[in-house]
Amino acid sequence: MKTIEKIQLGQGGPFVSKLGLGCMRMSSIWGGPTPNEAESNATIQEALDNGINFLNTGDFYGAGHNEMLIGRAIKGRRDEAFISVKFGAIFHNGHWIGMDLRPIAIKNFINYSLTRLGIETIDLYQPSRMDNSVPVEDIIGTIADLKKEGKVRYIGVSEVTPQQLRLANDVHPISALEIGYSLADRYIESELLPTAKELGIGVVAFANTAEGLLTGEMKAPLPENDYRNHFSRFQGKNLIHNLEKVDLLTRMASSKGCTPTQLAIAWVKEQDDQVMPLVSMSRRSRLPENIAAMQIAFTPEEMRMLNTTFVKGAILGGTYLQR
Ligand SMILES: NC(=O)c1ccc[n+]([C@@H]2O[C@H](COP(=O)([O-])OP(=O)(O)OC[C@H]3O[C@@H](n4cnc5c(N)ncnc54)[C@H](OP(=O)(O)O)[C@@H]3O)[C@@H](O)[C@H]2O)c1
Repeated sequence: MKTIEKIQLGQGGPFVSKLGLGCMRMSSIWGGPTPNEAESNATIQEALDNGINFLNTGDFYGAGHNEMLIGRAIKGRRDEAFISVKFGAIFHNGHWIGMDLRPIAIKNFINYSLTRLGIETIDLYQPSRMDNSVPVEDIIGTIADLKKEGKVRYIGVSEVTPQQLRLANDVHPISALEIGYSLADRYIESELLPTAKELGIGVVAFANTAEGLLTGEMKAPLPENDYRNHFSRFQGKNLIHNLEKVDLLTRMASSKGCTPTQLAIAWVKEQDDQVMPLVSMSRRSRLPENIAAMQIAFTPEEMRMLNTTFVKGAILGGTYLQR
C-alpha cells in the first residue's frame, strides 16, 4: 500500500493526512449492534501504519464507546495520531434529541472525552452543529479558553452556515470545517466552500459515498430493515432515478480499472488542495482500495462528464444532510 501524503489543514493549521479515517461506524450509533472491535482496532493500526493520522470521532458516537475504542487503539502510538472530536449532540436511547453547547456543558464534555481517549490534549475540537440558543461567540470563545488551558490544539466547526463560519473565525482562527460533500451533495459549492477558501480554512469532507449510493453496490429497492429507507433519496422512483446516474460512475470505473467508490473519493480530493476526504472504514479490507483512490486523476473530459451528470439537483431526494 502507498502511504498517504500530508497536507496543512487551514492557514497555519496542523499537518494531517489528505485521507482521514472516519471512526463513526466502528460504534453503534442508532442502537444497532457494535461492530467487531478487534477488526476496528486492527483497521486503526493499519491506517496509522499507512500514514493516515487523522482519526475522526464524536463523544456521542456509541455514547463514548468510539472514544474509548480509539483511546485503546492509540495507546503507545499517540504521536502518530491526530484526534478530531465532535461534541455537543445529545442522544437518548439511540435518538438525537438536540444540542447542548452552553459553556458549562462544553467544559464538562471535554473532561470526559480526554479521559475516554486517555490523552491530555484533543488535536481538533469542534461542535458537531451550532446550538441556536447559545451565541457562536460563546461557543467558540469557550473552546478558545480550553485551548489556553492546553486541552485543545486546534478549533474546528461542523455543518455550519457561511455566516456562522465567518462569525466563528472572527472569534478565533478556525482550522477546519467538517462538512458533507460528494458528487451527490454539492450545495456547499455555492457559498460555504468559497467562504472556507477565502478564510483559509481546511475542509474535512465526509459522506463521500452519499450513504453508499455512489459505491455502485446499491440495488433498488433497499431491504426493508435498511435505515436508509427513512431518507427520500433512497425511496421508490427517486432511488431508481439516482441509481441511473450512478451508472456513469460504474462505467467510468470499469474503463479506468477502479471502483465507483474510488472515483467518488477521488472526485472529492480533486476539488481543492484544502479539501480532504474523510471516509468511514471499519474493516481493514477497505483501506487498500480507499488509499489507492488518492492516486486517481481525471482527464478534463472525465471531470466534465462527472460534473454534468451530477450537476447540483441531479440526485433526487435528501438524506439527513439536507438543511
Ligand atoms: N460532522 C458530521 O455531521 C458527520 C456526519 C456523519 C459522519 N461524519 C464523520 O465522517 C465519517 C464518514 O462519514 P459517513 O460514514 O457518513 O460516510 P462514508 O465515508 O461515505 O461511509 C459510508 C459507507 O461507505 C462504506 N465504504 C467505505 N469504503 C468503501 C469502499 N471502498 N467500498 C464500498 N463501501 C465503502 C463504509 O463501510 P464500512 O464502514 O463497512 O467500511 C460506510 O458504511 C464518519 O465516520 C464520521 O467520522 C461526520
